[in-house]
Amino acid sequence: MTDPRLAVIVLAAGEGTRMRSKRAKVLHELAGLPMIAHVLATAHHLEPAHVEVVVRHQREQVAAAVAEYAEAAVVVEQDEVPGTGRAVELAVEALPADFDGEVVVVSGDVPLLDAVTLGALVEQHRAAAASATILSAVLDDATGYGRIVRDEAGGVRAIVEHKDADDAVRAITEVNSGSYVFAASALRELLPRVGTANAQGEKYLTDVVALLREASAPVAAVPVVENWRVAGVNDRSQLAEQAARLNAMIVRGHQLNGVTIVDPTSTWIDLTVSIGEDTVVWPNSRLAGATTIERDAVIGPDTTLVDCEIGEGATVKRTDATLAVIRAFAEVGPFAYLRPGTELAGGGKIGTFVETKNAKIGRGSKVPHLSYIGDTEVGEGSNIGAGTITANYDGVNKHRTTVGSHVRTGSHNVFVAPVTIGDGAYSGAGTVIRKDVPAGSLAMNVAPQRNLAGWVAEHRPGTAAADAAAAAAGDAAGGDTAE
Ligand code: UD1
Ligand code: MG
Repeated sequence: MTDPRLAVIVLAAGEGTRMRSKRAKVLHELAGLPMIAHVLATAHHLEPAHVEVVVRHQREQVAAAVAEYAEAAVVVEQDEVPGTGRAVELAVEALPADFDGEVVVVSGDVPLLDAVTLGALVEQHRAAAASATILSAVLDDATGYGRIVRDEAGGVRAIVEHKDADDAVRAITEVNSGSYVFAASALRELLPRVGTANAQGEKYLTDVVALLREASAPVAAVPVVENWRVAGVNDRSQLAEQAARLNAMIVRGHQLNGVTIVDPTSTWIDLTVSIGEDTVVWPNSRLAGATTIERDAVIGPDTTLVDCEIGEGATVKRTDATLAVIRAFAEVGPFAYLRPGTELAGGGKIGTFVETKNAKIGRGSKVPHLSYIGDTEVGEGSNIGAGTITANYDGVNKHRTTVGSHVRTGSHNVFVAPVTIGDGAYSGAGTVIRKDVPAGSLAMNVAPQRNLAGWVAEHRPGTAAADAAAAAAGDAAGGDTAE
């Protein structure tokens, strides 16, 4: 149920220089979703009446992501006045004029802060009728953070930024995490009074705290229980750290749901993936995007599935697959490459060193070895011989190959598309199929074999081959080589 008295402001205007990227920092991904999508999901879970995202650097890209992941969120553009205070000031101005509730402020680069932690902060804030409640953290190394300065009684006096702090303040280990709850009225009244006379020449949101204190308004700071939840991502090393944490949580979630994940640290699962009970995932596997896996499947080792559908009891080993559908009890791999549009029906097989693309392979049909099958439809119960290539591309256009049901094609065939092979047809080894094969026919077009007797002795005298041939001829003549 929407809380009409709650607004969430997500700060995402910063430049993110330490990422050293052409992509905006908040668009870098964890578990398959951009950082900002995680923050927006958390905001959504708080069920606020308003969500606002402040943007400036790479605003178009960030705004596009906001529109994708939080339709109802309002994008606010920050002007040239720098600082978190200015960002929040503009966001508050964009709220309805009569909004008089609580404002949660979070950063777009803190992806693992969860709604339970923030929800509790809102409750504490309301219970204490506070003007500001800061989510703080006690750190071994507080370098770089704003410090929470308390009075003798433990009341919060101010937040002092690292760059503005003296040694005594820098010795404080309780820091501002950068997430807060404010009374909207306090922000409306005090932010216009905050200046930029500080080490960074920025309008600090944190200066509101000292102003509240002057006005004797109640301010609280509540240390977070798990520091990693409030860790920001500023560079790619921190991105990897938080991504690994999130992955560990996702893996554990699946394990508790009955999925066997043999090696959590080498298994990477996007937030959007679903996996059925009793499925086993072997090491070094990446399950990404909209992938769904039914029960009793066996995935991996060394398997990447992007936007795939895997049926009950299917086996997918050492395989790279994108936008492929593998139905129940089918088998894939080892060493298969499934490109978009691959559909393997129940009980079918795509085997070793096989590449497929736009290939619909029917129930119980098999492409067991060393083949490329593209733009193809295969009926039921057919077997495609080892080393088969569908020549689907004439240099300009792609053409289709159609194979019927219960077909047996020989090894090392080329199907020069467009071509149709009828139900129950056979083909000989090495056939280059350029014409349709009617149902029930055997297609062959390899020239009859000729053996030129004695060719090696005549043309390659004195070689090991010639010696071996001579010895074999002796054997054939009844020579005794038993000793
Ligand atoms: C801020 C806090 C500091 C706290 C730290 C926690 C202030 C003044 N200081 O410092 O007390 O310990 O976070 O990480 O707030 N942003 C804007 N517009 C701006 C500047 C920043 O939207 O003009 C956004 C950034 O994109 C980021 C967030 O605000 O998401 C925090 O900005 P950042 O520059 O990282 O703040 P810090 O200096 O780390
Ligand atoms: Mg800064």
